[in-house]
Amino acid sequence: MKGVEIPSLLKRDSGDEADTIIMKKLLVTGASGFLGWNICTAAKNRWNICGTVFSNPIRIDGINILRADLTGFLEVKRIFQEVKPDAVIHTAAAASPDYCQTHKSETHKINVDAAVNIAGLCADSRVPFVFTSTDLVFDGLNPPYTEEAPVNPVSVYGEQKVLAEKKVLAAYPDTAVCRMSLMFGDPGPAASSFFKTMLTAFKEDREIKLFTDEFRTPVSGTTAGRGIFIALEKTHGLLHLGGSERISRYDFGRLLMNVLQIRKARIVQCSQKNVSMPAPRVPDVSLDSSKAFALGFKPMSLRDELEEIVKQGNL
Ligand SMILES: NC(=O)c1ccc[n+]([C@@H]2O[C@H](COP(=O)([O-])OP(=O)(O)OC[C@H]3O[C@@H](n4cnc5c(N)ncnc54)[C@H](OP(=O)(O)O)[C@@H]3O)[C@@H](O)[C@H]2O)c1
Repeated sequence: MKGVEIPSLLKRDSGDEADTIIMKKLLVTGASGFLGWNICTAAKNRWNICGTVFSNPIRIDGINILRADLTGFLEVKRIFQEVKPDAVIHTAAAASPDYCQTHKSETHKINVDAAVNIAGLCADSRVPFVFTSTDLVFDGLNPPYTEEAPVNPVSVYGEQKVLAEKKVLAAYPDTAVCRMSLMFGDPGPAASSFFKTMLTAFKEDREIKLFTDEFRTPVSGTTAGRGIFIALEKTHGLLHLGGSERISRYDFGRLLMNVLQIRKARIVQCSQKNVSMPAPRVPDVSLDSSKAFALGFKPMSLRDELEEIVKQGNL
């Protein structure tokens, strides 16, 4: 269980004659990204949130947005001095495996160096810290993967995350390292996602090729965000935050069609070996998230998650 003080959402400020109760400060890096945006919008009524953005200067009502390049240590230090966070969730990353494969040293700075610097600053002030990693730390040959399974990344992105996990935990053993699976749902105003690409293809009646031989345990951004807060408040070390079902990208596309009641969409089955991409692909990195389930993480079935997204009109 957590070695640092567990953050209750409120803290007492005894600076005045009368005590006032104020919300604790949460620093969320990558607020313009898929996961960061989902976390910020879901938690803004419970935390006083400062979110960082880099190239996409978005606004989120009720959240203080700071623009920063987190690859520079002095910039990160400045943010910490300015915000004085009570807790930190680090989602900023170069999250495209293909981009990392072709921009190795550039992406190392945000995926490894920035994560380690942030972990060090969290260690200095002993605040709870979540670092987001990926299911792509595995080679996809022996699923489902528990936290105890040996890592063996096949891409530069996976290698960077493995290195970051090790260095972050060395710098601050109380870190919760959350390995995320493929995420779907509303990406917010600036982020891109495979889900958005699928929806756009459906809307524009364009052909979309989806792998029948690549499996993940996808989870919605909303549910993933809940998992991150469970990690922040209840645990440290490695934690898998995958969804409740293993599915191929092709079957996910078919399920989405079904939920949206689209009779005809131009989904074409394809195999990993037929598509050439910079980063090598993994066959099946399904996560076993039993540890998170025992802590209260409860992803719904994929159909229920998708129906919920449709009901909320976030498409
Ligand atoms: N999405 C998935 O399906 C998935 C799956 C597994 C793991 N993950 C992991 O989950 C985390 C969140 O991923 P995501 O999908 O939300 O990523 P994303 O949508 O690509 O967002 C990345 C965020 O990082 C920020 N960023 C990039 N370079 C930066 C820099 N130099 N300085 C400061 N900020 C920088 C971006 O800011 P701007 O947009 O403003 O430039 C953006 O807010 C990452 O750790 C990722 O590896 C994601």
